[in-house]
Amino acid sequence: MTNSAPRKKHTRTRLFILDDEVITVQRLVQALSKDGYTVEGFVSGQAALQQVQENQPDLIIMDIRLNDADGIDLMQRMKVAAPEMEVVLMTGYAAIGQAVEATKKGAFDYLEKPIQLQKLRTIISDALSLADQKLQKSLIDQGIRSMDRFGEIIGASASMLSIFKVITQVAPLDCSVLLQGESGTGKELIARALHTNSSRKNKPFVSFNCGSFTDELFANELFGHEKGAFTGAVSTKLGLLEAANGGTMFLDEIGEMPPAMQVKLLRVLQERNFMRVGSTTAVAIDVRFIAATNRILERMITAQEFRQDLYYRLNVVKIELPPLRQRLEDLPLLVEHFVNKSSVRFNKTVRRVSKDVIKELEQYSFPGNVRELENIIERAVALCPGKTLRLADLPPDILCLKSIRVDPQPTALPGIKELEMDHISKVYQETGFNQTETARRLGISRTTLWRRLRECTSKKS
Ligand SMILES: Nc1ncnc2c1ncn2[C@@H]1O[C@H](COP(=O)(O)OP(=O)(O)O)[C@@H](O)[C@H]1O
Ligand SMILES: [Mg+2]
Repeated sequence: MTNSAPRKKHTRTRLFILDDEVITVQRLVQALSKDGYTVEGFVSGQAALQQVQENQPDLIIMDIRLNDADGIDLMQRMKVAAPEMEVVLMTGYAAIGQAVEATKKGAFDYLEKPIQLQKLRTIISDALSLADQKLQKSLIDQGIRSMDRFGEIIGASASMLSIFKVITQVAPLDCSVLLQGESGTGKELIARALHTNSSRKNKPFVSFNCGSFTDELFANELFGHEKGAFTGAVSTKLGLLEAANGGTMFLDEIGEMPPAMQVKLLRVLQERNFMRVGSTTAVAIDVRFIAATNRILERMITAQEFRQDLYYRLNVVKIELPPLRQRLEDLPLLVEHFVNKSSVRFNKTVRRVSKDVIKELEQYSFPGNVRELENIIERAVALCPGKTLRLADLPPDILCLKSIRVDPQPTALPGIKELEMDHISKVYQETGFNQTETARRLGISRTTLWRRLRECTSKKS
């Protein structure tokens, strides 16, 4: 296809109708034209096929039983003639089995006659949304291909494509890498990609959270200890550094590392060896270091909270991960990815996402980035009763949080209600949108919480 415009305007969306009953064709052409589509009707299969080839419509709605052609056969020819076009079949009761068969052969869906317009409209909009996604996909084929090597990292925005490029270049170099980005932007995912694309890929990848230990425990975890090093050290324990030997050590939340430990880590990076707690013998190690932080380390250096020399050692290459709200182009792909993932996980059959879901999500600012999106989709899929994820499946809170954040600058100090809502939404986010946990932390009943969330949602609409 030569047309490179990724999204068509509604009015430029072209629909074909094919049925050998003139009356049905007329009725549908009329109704769908009113909806704003460009619609063309056909009563002959052969004529339709020719026009499909010439005009490449976005979608065809066709009867499965035609006088001059076998419906399924014709449909397949049409798919060959216009691979991007979606097909919706109309069928009488007698041909339902055939219609089901046809959906396995490439039809998007089928509708039983007599056609209910409302149902048809929904199917059309879902089919177009799928077509849109397919088109986007083909446009970013390049991105997807490069993605294969990076496991599950999804992205086709300019910023993600340039990150893929950097990963390709830097992964085999064996140098330290510093990953900087808000929480949930995919730092750990990228650290793993750097590892699996390096010569160390068959050796361990060990993750260490620098913020979760006191000084003492920190050294113990990282360096291990000798038997008898302290009371309770009944046997020699290997530290994570030794466990990572030959592989990659991921130092997560490096900005949270206590100053005393920064010195110790610096020593390891300089000397490439360390001593177990209680030992005087140095153990040599061959480890690649990848560090991650959601803080601005440069600022911490100025504030003397982070050692500049350590920063230089870690920051041989820096990869900055943009927050999700700055690369919303990736949203449809990410949503699709997580829908599939959750669908498999929960053994559900949700396969499509209606367009307004994406539109709604595009309004949201995702303070928790991709992780938050993943949570939202996971819950929506769990609740979704059908095959298509709809707006109604999204948690009410996302609509709610959006209305709070999008608020233009407050002119005066906020009122009690606003403060309350603001606080509720913060706690709600912190608990990963768990209503029971939120209610518990706030000391209110679930019903009260639910009512507050509803109030806020209805205020929005
Ligand atoms: N680009 C992406 N494609 C697919 N999944 C992603 C992407 N970025 C993040 N994720 C997912 O979001 C979650 C958080 O990612 P993670 O790497 O732990 O973020 P961070 O370390 O920056 O907090 C993980 O489940 C991860 O798989
Ligand atoms: Mg993380």
